[in-house]
Amino acid sequence: MTPPPWKAEIDALVVELLAAAAAAPDAAALRAIEVDALGKKGSVTALSKGIAALPAEARRDYGAAVTAARASVEAALAARGEGMRADRLAAELADRSFDETLPGAPAPSGAVHPLALVQAQLEDVFRSMGFSVLDYPEVDSEYSNFEALNIPSWHPARDMQDTFWLEPFADADGAPGRAHLLRTHTSAGQVRTMHRFPNQPIRAVFPGRVFRYEAVDASHEHTFHQVEGLMIDRAPPEGPGVSVGHLLFAMRTLLEAVFGEAVEVRLRPGYFPFVEPGFELDIRCRVCRGAGCQVCKYSGWLELLPCGLIHPNVLRMGGFDPARWQGWAFGLGLSRLVMMRHQIRDIRLLLGGDARFVAPVAAGSAG
Ligand code: DAH
Repeated sequence: MTPPPWKAEIDALVVELLAAAAAAPDAAALRAIEVDALGKKGSVTALSKGIAALPAEARRDYGAAVTAARASVEAALAARGEGMRADRLAAELADRSFDETLPGAPAPSGAVHPLALVQAQLEDVFRSMGFSVLDYPEVDSEYSNFEALNIPSWHPARDMQDTFWLEPFADADGAPGRAHLLRTHTSAGQVRTMHRFPNQPIRAVFPGRVFRYEAVDASHEHTFHQVEGLMIDRAPPEGPGVSVGHLLFAMRTLLEAVFGEAVEVRLRPGYFPFVEPGFELDIRCRVCRGAGCQVCKYSGWLELLPCGLIHPNVLRMGGFDPARWQGWAFGLGLSRLVMMRHQIRDIRLLLGGDARFVAPVAAGSAG
């Protein structure tokens, strides 16, 4: 039986299209072949229309042949497309300018704020000397912030610290009527600590934010950071006592930890109602090392650390008998210390929230 004449025609078209598909140089050429063959007006689509001209008994075979032709063209196009993708991948892998072992672009990450950094160092050094690190509320009572520290309402020292006062409210324990404020210094934690650890030796530091009702400029902020420290022990003959020598040793140790080297210090008398005697501890100027410069106002010294032996009235207020207990305290200006260590000239940068400030300082000189 001789094959019908249309058979050769379909075969020829398929052979032609398979050859074209196999030779297509790129995706655009492949797509053009697809449209020319299988599209609405394509050559394979046109075959279907020829069915009408055929006698009824031939139509079945013809239809099957057209379907088969369409399927093999589709398969050839798909195969060539797949081949192109494989070629592309091989070419990419062969391209030596692409090095898949190079590390990726670094993901943006945060940096530790210098205040947090120095605070953590201070906490570490005090823990190593047997101190606890405590935390107290920023909203505190007039009692903790002033009265318990030997600063009654008539005392002129109140004017030294302009205060954010709050509307009066009752304490958590229900005691009515005490005035409240944003603590003006971390010293507000002193008597809280004494009440928390009654009649026992105490070594504690409590870092935190403090607040003053101040006009803000390059060296004044309404919000800044301090670290308070407290040590109490039995007085002789019952115990070892607590002396200015102990205080100096602790201060030297903390400064050495922060500055990474021994720091020369001196004590001057200083007045604070809650210590007696009270001192200002100065350090050798970090900038000129004592020669005299603008930063130390040509004195060679920087005022850094007020401290002293705890006043008997404060011990009494905390429930400690001053005949039997002694202690020292210090109130370190953490913001100031950070500014000194990192040579930051404007205090407003510390809490300004500008992320550009954190990265270079923390990465640059923190070590
Ligand atoms: N609380 C004081 C202030 O903010 C600093 C201070 C002075 C704290 C002497 C102390 C101290 O513990 O003994 O100005």
